Amino acid sequence: MKVLVACEFSGTVRDAFIARGHTAISCDLLPTEKPGPHYQGDVLPILNEGWDLMIAHPPCTYLTSSGLHWNKRRPERAKQTEEAIHFVKMLAAAPIPRICIENPIGCLSTRWRKPDQIIQPHQFGHDASKSTCLWLRGLMPLRPTEHIAPRMVNGKPRWSNQTDSGQNKLGPSADRWALRSLTYPGIAQAMAEQWG
Ligand SMILES: C[S@@+](CC[C@H](N)C(=O)[O-])C[C@H]1O[C@@H](n2cnc3c(N)ncnc32)[C@H](O)[C@@H]1O
Repeated sequence: MKVLVACEFSGTVRDAFIARGHTAISCDLLPTEKPGPHYQGDVLPILNEGWDLMIAHPPCTYLTSSGLHWNKRRPERAKQTEEAIHFVKMLAAAPIPRICIENPIGCLSTRWRKPDQIIQPHQFGHDASKSTCLWLRGLMPLRPTEHIAPRMVNGKPRWSNQTDSGQNKLGPSADRWALRSLTYPGIAQAMAEQWG
């Protein structure tokens, strides 16, 4: 298959498809972190190039529940939220038969449509919790591949990336957004095995 991985600088999903014999390219405004087929630039002008499958990870800064919290204090962010929703809708309207759009829980569910599936890295072999919504066209929901059990804290499940109270352990840093946005390899492998 000819696969476009939109909004990916890590090369994780791209390389999972290449490892299974597909022609895959990542695209991001940023350069790729791992050497491999990558188009650095805006993805919108290349949507019409005969792809069989697109997996897209559009920016979530102005879409997630935690990000929207800041819109009340900084009204100028509302415009950026509208632009982010418009970008997702442009991706979803691409002339590609199989599309997966991935994003954390946020306003897309109400402003666009409910996700087809919500997955967790701990269903795909990682000791981590991160609710991830998938909006699918022409694709079956992903089947979990390996369940990782949590530790129990006062009757509540917690995974390694969480404190006992359920917060993410990653402290503030300049590259926090990038680290938090990386696709888990177990999820990338499941995408390539099940959708390839
Ligand atoms: C949430 S991150 C996704 C990271 C991805 N999960 C990975 O493992 O590399 C969103 C990415 O979208 C990219 N982006 C934003 N607008 C874009 C556009 N118009 N075309 C291509 N990439 C874009 C950003 O540069 C950013 O790296």
